[in-house]
Amino acid sequence: MKSFLGLLALVSCVAAVSLPQKRAQCSNGRTASHASCCVWFDVLDDIQENLFDGGECGEEVHESLRLTFHDAIGFSKKLFLEGKFGGGGADGSIMAHSEIETNFHANNGVDEIVEAQRPFAIKHGVSFGDFIQFAGAVGVSNCLGGPRLQFLAGRANFSLPSPDLLVPEPSDSVDAILARAADAGISASEMVDLLASHSVAAQDHVDETIPGTPFDSTPSVFDANFFLEVLLKGDVIPGNGINEGEVMSPLQGEFRLQSDFVLSQDPRTACEWQSFITDQDRMVAKFTAAMAKMATIGHIPALLTDCSEVIPIPAAAKAKVANLPAGKTLSDVQAACKATPFPTVTADAGPETTVAKVPPS
Ligand code: HEM
Ligand SMILES: *[C@@H]1O[C@H](CO)[C@@H](O)[C@H](O)[C@H]1NC(C)=O
Repeated sequence: MKSFLGLLALVSCVAAVSLPQKRAQCSNGRTASHASCCVWFDVLDDIQENLFDGGECGEEVHESLRLTFHDAIGFSKKLFLEGKFGGGGADGSIMAHSEIETNFHANNGVDEIVEAQRPFAIKHGVSFGDFIQFAGAVGVSNCLGGPRLQFLAGRANFSLPSPDLLVPEPSDSVDAILARAADAGISASEMVDLLASHSVAAQDHVDETIPGTPFDSTPSVFDANFFLEVLLKGDVIPGNGINEGEVMSPLQGEFRLQSDFVLSQDPRTACEWQSFITDQDRMVAKFTAAMAKMATIGHIPALLTDCSEVIPIPAAAKAKVANLPAGKTLSDVQAACKATPFPTVTADAGPETTVAKVPPS
C-alpha cells in the first residue's frame, strides 16, 4: 500500500511536470504560450497586409528595420554617468517625440516610416517601443534568407526624447562608430553583425538625386552579398557626385556608405566582416543575437514576455555563399582580414551586373 501510494505520488508528479501548459487561444485558431502575446497576431495580420504590401521585403520593411536601430541606439552610459538623461534605448521615443528626434540629422527620412507605423500602434493599443521592434522583426522575416528574430513584449509606453548625436552618421570614423556602439553596450563585432541589415537596404538621403539606390545587388534578399560587394574596388559614382558619407561603389546603380567601407577595412572589424561571405548561416545567427541585444537596450529582458512565436518563419535564400557579381574577379576584392585567407568565391556569368533601384511604394 505504502509503495503504491509512493508510486501514485511519483506518477502524478511526473504528470504535472510533463503536462503541456494550457495555451492561450488567440484569433484565427492560433495559440500562444502567454495570453498577452495574442494581440501581436492581430498586429501581424494588419501590418503584413497594410504596411508591408502583403508580406513583401520592400521599402517599408527596409525602413522599419532601420527604425529599430534609430530608436534603440538612443541610449548612452556616458551621458548617464555625467548625470544627463541619455535616452531610454528601445523605448519608442523616436515615435512619441518624433517632432524632436526626426529632426536630428542622422534621422533624415525616418519621419516617413514613423508616421506610417504610428496609427497601427495606436489602433492595437501596444506601446511604441514594442511596436517598432515588432515591425522590424516581422518585416525582416519577409526577406528571403531572413532571420527569425526574438521578439519580447512589454516595454512601457513612457519615454523622454533622446538627445541628439547618438545615431551614427555614415561619415563617422571607425573610432567614433565603435565608441558610440560601446557606449550603448554594443561590441565592435556586434556592430558588424548588425550591419547585415544593410543587405536589405537602400539610401534616399545621402544622395537625394538617386532615391532607392541599394547597398548591395539583392536588396530584398537577406544574403551575404552585401559583405562581399562592400569589399570590391569602387570605381562608380552612382549619382550627382561623392556626397558626405559616400564613397565610390563597384557597380552601376549601387551605393556605398563610407561607414560600411571603413568598417570592412579596419583591423578591429575586418575579420568578422569577411567571415560572413561564405557563411550566411553564421551571418543570420550573429545578426539574430545582436538584434536581441539591441532590441532590449534600456530594458531588463527577464521582465519582458517572450512572444517570438508570433514572428513568421522566413523562407530560405537560394545561396548560403555570396557570389561575385558578373564582370568582377577576385583581383577586385580589397581583402582586409589578416588572420584568415580570403575565401573562394565564384563570379556570376553574363555581362557586368547593374543594380536596380528599390521601387518606392
Ligand atoms: C555604423 C552604423 C550605421 C550607419 C552609419 C548607418 C547609416 C545608414 C544610412 C546613411 C542609410 C541611408 C538612409 C537614407 O539615406 O535613406 C542607412 C540605411 C539603412 N540602415 Fe543603416 N546605418 C548603420 C547601422 C544600421 C543598423 C545597426 C541597422 C539595423 C539593425 C541599419 C539598418 C538600415 C536599413 C535597413 C537601411 C535601409 C533603409 C531603406 O532602405 O529605406 N543600419 N543606414
Ligand atoms: C503611447 O503614448 C502615445 C503618446 O506618446 C499615445 O498616443 C498612445 O496612445 C500610447 N499608447 C498606449 C498603448 O498607451
